[in-house]
Amino acid sequence: MKIAVTSASGQLGSAIVRQLINEVGEDHVVGIARTPEKASNLGVEIRKGDYNSRQQFDEALRGVDTVLLVSGMDDPQKRIQQHRNVIEAAKYNGVSKIVYTGIVGDETDTAFSPIVQSNRQTENDVRGSGLQWVIGRNGIYIEPDLEYIDHYVKDGEITNCAGGGKCTYTSRSELGCAYARMLLDEKHHGQVYNLVGEAITQARLAELLNRVYGTELTYRPVSVAAYAKERRTALGEFMGTVIAGIYEGIQNGAYDLRSDYERAAGRAHKAPLEMIKNLASVQ
Ligand SMILES: NC(=O)c1ccc[n+]([C@@H]2O[C@H](COP(=O)([O-])OP(=O)(O)OC[C@H]3O[C@@H](n4cnc5c(N)ncnc54)[C@H](OP(=O)(O)O)[C@@H]3O)[C@@H](O)[C@H]2O)c1
Repeated sequence: MKIAVTSASGQLGSAIVRQLINEVGEDHVVGIARTPEKASNLGVEIRKGDYNSRQQFDEALRGVDTVLLVSGMDDPQKRIQQHRNVIEAAKYNGVSKIVYTGIVGDETDTAFSPIVQSNRQTENDVRGSGLQWVIGRNGIYIEPDLEYIDHYVKDGEITNCAGGGKCTYTSRSELGCAYARMLLDEKHHGQVYNLVGEAITQARLAELLNRVYGTELTYRPVSVAAYAKERRTALGEFMGTVIAGIYEGIQNGAYDLRSDYERAAGRAHKAPLEMIKNLASVQ
């Protein structure tokens, strides 16, 4: 049995590879990476695979039984064809199962919606592939808030346009545990799972960060327009729009979702405080 994981050089792909090594051993895991040298520390066979190259995936998926497709990072419209390159190469190689990492979120009402729509198109492509399939819709990662802690401390507050909306944060290691089960267990075939944790407000997030980091952060809501303008100035047009769109979605309730995590992973999702403590301890 060979299970291949794409974008193995990235933080999500590598978390899934590590979990699979724990469960089935390194001989059964193949990492596929656009930049193979960045994945060489994983201790598994690494093959080259850029989503723009169908030919590279025709090679990379040789002899593979199951493939995990990590959603790409490109412009939303470009991603659809990039993901199709992997799906077509999987069919060409007789791969029997594909697991796709999509995203939760609103398909129509926010600046993040074009990315959600392109992910949903890939979900449709995966469903229509003729392979066994499982789809995960990833929650919003909590890690960026921890990486941002120095900025929050400097400002004395968390500021964004989420208002009183709740977000069901997850982490890459929680996702890694769920995807390993979704790859290995047949009972998940044909399922779409919201891989999300407990729903919390930004004010609650500030309280939890204060408990772990000993800070005194407060939360201050601002308008969607003001936040989008500020983020575009700080991060550029594309990324600023994406980030503001996510917080707009939190305000709209798009991330206050029923969790399917336990069904997928076979255990409860970690509580936000536990995730923050674990991540802070290795920061
Ligand atoms: N749920 C969330 O909150 C959230 C937040 C951010 C992103 N995401 C999504 O989750 C995915 C994984 O996130 P992550 O944490 O692993 O991000 P990450 O650590 O930044 O890794 C991104 C990965 O994508 C790879 N990649 C980019 N373009 C590629 C291409 N053309 N062909 C093949 N691989 C390509 C990168 O390869 P190189 O090493 O060669 O650069 C890298 O391995 C992202 O791609 C994005 O769609 C979700």
